[in-house]
Amino acid sequence: MTCCAGHCAAAGFFDARIANRDLRRYHRRGPDSSTRMLLSGLRRGMLDGLHLLDVGSGIGVIAAELAVDGLASATLVDASPAYLEAARRNVGSRYVSCPAQFILGDFASTAASLPEADIVTLDRVVCCYPNAETLLSAAAARSRRLLAFTHPPYRWHMRAGFALMNFFFGLARNPFRIFVHPPQQMAAVLEAAGFDLASHRESFFWSFRLYRRRSSA
Ligand SMILES: C[S@@+](CC[C@H](N)C(=O)[O-])C[C@H]1O[C@@H](n2cnc3c(N)ncnc32)[C@H](O)[C@@H]1O
Repeated sequence: MTCCAGHCAAAGFFDARIANRDLRRYHRRGPDSSTRMLLSGLRRGMLDGLHLLDVGSGIGVIAAELAVDGLASATLVDASPAYLEAARRNVGSRYVSCPAQFILGDFASTAASLPEADIVTLDRVVCCYPNAETLLSAAAARSRRLLAFTHPPYRWHMRAGFALMNFFFGLARNPFRIFVHPPQQMAAVLEAAGFDLASHRESFFWSFRLYRRRSSA
């Protein structure tokens, strides 16, 4: 896999124009549907005092929203400098006692240097990365309790739509690609890392999965 099919292609694609557009949309309409699914899944449990690591944080919606649920701290990681800058503005000073951390880079290579967290989230991130297993196993290694992620459902209409979009990216000589990964392979990585599926919801465009670390693992 070349760098430009992965995180640096994503970093180039999610530029300042897209980041500012996403930030305006969030301020106008609130979180998108995949993020709402993820937030409501997490809010079924107690979040007070927990530490969040949001991988592929984008403009920082998860950290911004969960600040009111009493999280102790948030670390946001993204490959896109423009998204991370927008996240800084969005999350601002919502974490008073322990200010949020913003870390630029490819999570697959920086994960080992990051602090562990109680909750690790990846909202619409595995679909921007060729190797979902690498990202998820790195995320599992950093999570003490919960791992929540969203991805496109592995259905023919999504695979056809993504193939068409990749065709147009190719025509435009844009190295960015999107991926529909088989859920069984992603599940196998997380189960091998000591996690069990705790919750699963699916809409036409997005699938949400919440994994919980086995207590004996
Ligand atoms: C579709 S955006 C989703 C952003 C945000 N999670 C949301 O749902 O609004 C995917 C994000 O993942 C980031 N990303 C993709 N691969 C990454 C990697 N290997 N390491 C860090 N960030 C990555 C991209 O830069 C981009 O910000």
